[in-house]
Amino acid sequence: MLAVIKKRRSIREFLDKPVEKEKIEEILKAVMFAPSAVHRRPWEFVVVEDPEKKEALARATPWADFASKAPVVLVLCVDEELSREWLEDAAIAGAHIYLEATNQGLGTCWIQVRGHQSQTGEDSEEFVRQLLGIPAKFRVVALFPLGYPSSYPGEHQDDEYSPEKVHWDQW
Ligand SMILES: Cc1cc2nc3c(=O)[nH]c(=O)nc-3n(C[C@H](O)[C@H](O)[C@H](O)COP(=O)(O)O)c2cc1C
Repeated sequence: MLAVIKKRRSIREFLDKPVEKEKIEEILKAVMFAPSAVHRRPWEFVVVEDPEKKEALARATPWADFASKAPVVLVLCVDEELSREWLEDAAIAGAHIYLEATNQGLGTCWIQVRGHQSQTGEDSEEFVRQLLGIPAKFRVVALFPLGYPSSYPGEHQDDEYSPEKVHWDQW
């Protein structure tokens, strides 16, 4: 498990190669087998393959440009009426997306939507909701462009473990 965790990097450049539907489904399974508060499972996804919609998503935040270059973009939405812990559940979902994508030989990157503004100055969540017809009660937490990596920055290294950040028995 630690081997996949070290291999996982944020990937922002992709080969011009489609992603198999089975692999997308494995990644979505990895989310749906994740823990969630009170087992509410508040996440839903929009899987975007349409080039015009991906172009629009690339303008959803100032740091989303590469979304248009990915074969697929997963949009992570959570129902804030279903769970008070929607944000924690979304964070775990994002981690599972990253790890199963890595396990499948794919790459992805969390693009923050919640709390940002689009390149045209609208609230990023509302921008994505309008574009994709997402109901208002869903928070749009992040975008995950997904594809085969065309560049890789290298694995995480053991010296990134910082023992000084760990407090045993007392701070
Ligand atoms: C909550 C969160 C928000 C992030 N937002 C963005 C983003 O908007 N755009 C982006 O390119 N990367 C984003 N990242 C990726 C981080 O920059 C990346 O995880 C960090 O630099 C460490 O690199 P690594 O993921 O390759 O280990 C985000 C990551 C997290 C966890």
